[in-house]
Amino acid sequence: MKHLAVASVLVVIVTLLVILLLTSTNLLPGLASEEGAFVDEMFRAQIYVIAFIFSLIVVFILYSVVVFRQKPGDESEGQYIKGNTALEIGWTLVPLVIVMIFATWGALHLAEVTAGEEGELVVEVTGFQFGWRFDYPDAGVSSDELWLPLNRQALFRITSRDVIHSFWVPEFRVKQDAVPGRWTELRVKPTETGDYRLRCAELCGYAHAAMISRVVVVEPAAFEAWLQGMSVAQPPGDDTSPAGRGAMLVQDNGCTSCHSVDGTTLVGPSWQGVFGSERQLEDGSTVTADEEYLHRAILDPGSQVVAGFPNVMPAAYNFLPEEDITAMVEYIKTLSR
Ligand code: CUA
Repeated sequence: MKHLAVASVLVVIVTLLVILLLTSTNLLPGLASEEGAFVDEMFRAQIYVIAFIFSLIVVFILYSVVVFRQKPGDESEGQYIKGNTALEIGWTLVPLVIVMIFATWGALHLAEVTAGEEGELVVEVTGFQFGWRFDYPDAGVSSDELWLPLNRQALFRITSRDVIHSFWVPEFRVKQDAVPGRWTELRVKPTETGDYRLRCAELCGYAHAAMISRVVVVEPAAFEAWLQGMSVAQPPGDDTSPAGRGAMLVQDNGCTSCHSVDGTTLVGPSWQGVFGSERQLEDGSTVTADEEYLHRAILDPGSQVVAGFPNVMPAAYNFLPEEDITAMVEYIKTLSR
């Protein structure tokens, strides 16, 4: 009994120390959404339980190893113990009850966390290899940055163009998969202005780790100003020239998340100066980047991989009409002048 009392006191002490350690370490970034408050509450509660169970196991093991170790010269057999029904029922029931409490608690709050509000801002989010595109259907604006007004709920309607991605802004806590051929939903009410990062949280290929978009939360007035500015920047009349239309298309299709237009090397080759240049291909051959080459590079990228670059561009753009491909090629040509 003396051993049990000492070990129990040690469990309490170690539990408190582990809680102190875990809560003083910044395990989570700052909270910036209303929905995330409950997630943090639950996370804290789990830390308490985790600290207790960890201490329970570690203290008893270390205590036994130290106190009941074999004394020098003691060659006797250990005591034969065969099972302990009460203990087995106990360590089955107690964790079961703990898990059930968390499951019920989470289920009761799920409706609250996902509930819609009046006047929510609808944003359509499209994930693709390797970037994100945001459409504001009410304003007719598309962007590769996610801008959100403070204290207004946003309803994200999320989909994917190729494989499964996952929409996750760590500061918002909540997360939702982007599934091809399906619309999933996620609601977030930003509570802190700031500059955040949307990170893809589902391994989706070569540049998964680079699938990051800027998220900006601003005051409502600044948000309206941004929307205004964006709708002026992309008037429907901008498609008068093929190159102008191509510039919009490469934005809309997310090409620029892998191909820079300023000579910077991203996942794929930069487009600056590419038209008319000699391209060294992976198989050792050389080819001049003419219109036909660029055309084929968009539709069948695996057929002519540039040396030094991975063969990762999805062959997924045949859904684009012929004139769109031509417009994009026309735009790329302007980057060589
Ligand atoms: Cu998209 Cu990982």
